[in-house]
Amino acid sequence: MSETKATNITWHEGHVTAEERQDLVGQKGATLWMTGLSGSGKSTVAVALEQALLHMGYNSYRLDGDNVRHGLNKNLGFSAEDRAENIRRIGEVAKLFADSTCLAITSFISPYIADRDLVRQLHNEAGLPFMEVYVECPLEVAEERDPKGLYKKARAGEIKGFTGIDDPYEAPTNAELVINTAELSVEESVEKIIAALRQRGLIEDQ
Ligand code: ADX
Repeated sequence: MSETKATNITWHEGHVTAEERQDLVGQKGATLWMTGLSGSGKSTVAVALEQALLHMGYNSYRLDGDNVRHGLNKNLGFSAEDRAENIRRIGEVAKLFADSTCLAITSFISPYIADRDLVRQLHNEAGLPFMEVYVECPLEVAEERDPKGLYKKARAGEIKGFTGIDDPYEAPTNAELVINTAELSVEESVEKIIAALRQRGLIEDQ
């Protein structure tokens, strides 16, 4: 689905280099890629993290699976092919946000390693920082939480191809950070991510 169809198009460079932009804006951009099961707490942590960063004076913007599927990606379902395209598009959008010096936070199940690696590669090629954050949570806990009642429906066979039930979740093996939401509070998870951002020099000591 992601083959190049547009022909006769030329890349047009801007006049401001990436470094100049960072200096002028006073912030470095990056993508924080949160991956985990439905109900793992990705969006809850992402919402709290976005709020904390904004209050610290950093521009931050959240791209969320459920929300993006209402707009940009509303023509995509949950087949492996559609999930791959979902992640590819979000990867490209997050990359643009990061390039604009924003701290982009994405919260998508993004269940397949190959799709996440592709997004990592996109950022590497563009010289933009990329942090994969594995929002770890045992399936039993996510299923117990079942905030949208979807696990119940999946178990009843009313939803086919549900991640963790009859569609795989490939846990990260090289994530920059792991947040275990069965053990950490939302505040602790946010603190851990903020500490990692500081350590990488993406935000300053305050
Ligand atoms: S992804 O797999 O392509 O990364 P995404 O994060 O955008 O998924 O969307 C996941 C959300 O869609 C879930 O939180 C859930 O609310 C809903 N959903 C609906 N059908 C499914 C399904 N078959 N598998 C997983 N999530 C689903």
